[in-house]
Amino acid sequence: MELILPIEKYLDSYKEARSEYLEHKVREYEFLNTDKFDVFEVIRNYREGIGLPERYVSATYLWLVDKGAFIGEASIRHELTESLLRFGGHIGYGIRVKRWKQGYGTILLQKALEYACKTIKLDKVLITCNDNNIGSYKIIEKNGGILQDKVINIINGNERLTRRYWIDCK
Ligand SMILES: CC(C)(COP(=O)(O)OP(=O)(O)OC[C@H]1O[C@@H](n2cnc3c(N)ncnc32)[C@H](O)[C@@H]1OP(=O)(O)O)[C@@H](O)C(=O)NCCC(=O)NCCS
Repeated sequence: MELILPIEKYLDSYKEARSEYLEHKVREYEFLNTDKFDVFEVIRNYREGIGLPERYVSATYLWLVDKGAFIGEASIRHELTESLLRFGGHIGYGIRVKRWKQGYGTILLQKALEYACKTIKLDKVLITCNDNNIGSYKIIEKNGGILQDKVINIINGNERLTRRYWIDCK
């Protein structure tokens, strides 16, 4: 199992994973829109900070792959904004629905943290999640996340309690 920069070989299973997310109406993390865009171009532009929407920062997308199939994605923001400090943090992630509760989320975050610290050279990493996202806060805590606080955010008109965790890069 490895966490890699996205490549064509896994695009079909990435598309399947996205369809699963749409069917299950998963809102906490979105895979990139493969119908409208060339995802590899989008990913390259994010990484290099080219033509990003206003107030967006550079980000590296990585894919967790195993036995020839896409398992999950991490998106590592290279810096924080006021908005990311409250909601979003440095790392967003999603595991494809049919692979939930099999330990993949814990491994994905472990490898993404390693990349954020060693390759992107962050000193400390902020990870946020909804207060009721048990799977997400479990994988953050299993990876050494220290809960700083919980803040109230308005997301799409709804009040949401957001947990903010920090992890120091050693
Ligand atoms: C959150 C998510 C990444 C967890 O991934 P996963 O591969 O299921 O996580 P793991 O298998 O490593 O599970 C870690 C722990 O959380 C528990 N867990 C996972 N999902 C859970 C759920 N829905 N309810 C309760 N516990 C859950 C597991 O049982 C495991 O517990 P244990 O350590 O006591 O054995 C995955 O559910 C997902 O992609 N969700 C949609 C996107 C999302 O929420 N992203 C996070 C945004 S902050």
